[in-house]
Amino acid sequence: SSEPSGRPALVLIGPMGAGKTSIGRRVARALGLPFRDTDSEIVKEHGPIPEIFERLGEPAFRAIEHDTVRRVIGEGGIIALGGGAPMHPDTRAALRGTPVVLLTVAEHVIAARIRGQKRPLLNRDDRDPVAEWTRIRDERMPVYESVSSVVFDTSSGPMQGVVDRIVAWA
Ligand code: S3P
Repeated sequence: SSEPSGRPALVLIGPMGAGKTSIGRRVARALGLPFRDTDSEIVKEHGPIPEIFERLGEPAFRAIEHDTVRRVIGEGGIIALGGGAPMHPDTRAALRGTPVVLLTVAEHVIAARIRGQKRPLLNRDDRDPVAEWTRIRDERMPVYESVSSVVFDTSSGPMQGVVDRIVAWA
């Protein structure tokens, strides 16, 4: 059910393109729990993320994201957070006591993962999207690690392998 349970069963965090949404959805299905993705919740209420960045700017997006994260965390189930969400101290505080899975992915496979997708932070000016991805990943990794209970890398092998390992761990 999607009854408020006070605390999420499991939260997925990690850099853009690590597979938080795809893997989270499958983990939820395997465990018979509801799945929420903070980006999709934002899109439902406010429209496409690139348009939010364009119209309102990143600080406004972060404020919307923070409200969404707070609500979604209160609803329980399996939750995939947007890549930047754990950078908010309140979000990190809200995650205390909850199992947090950090998904990582190697730089050499990220180009294929993000191809054809629109992420405002990776499509700025004429910067190289992979270089930007790596810069942001490196900047955030210590924070990701500080709140995560376990780390799974999604760079190789079938996605289902990671799903199975998470389900076994949960
Ligand atoms: C962002 C990640 C995106 C989305 C937005 C900003 C970030 O989510 O929230 O484009 O700051 O890393 P994904 O991690 O699901 O791509």
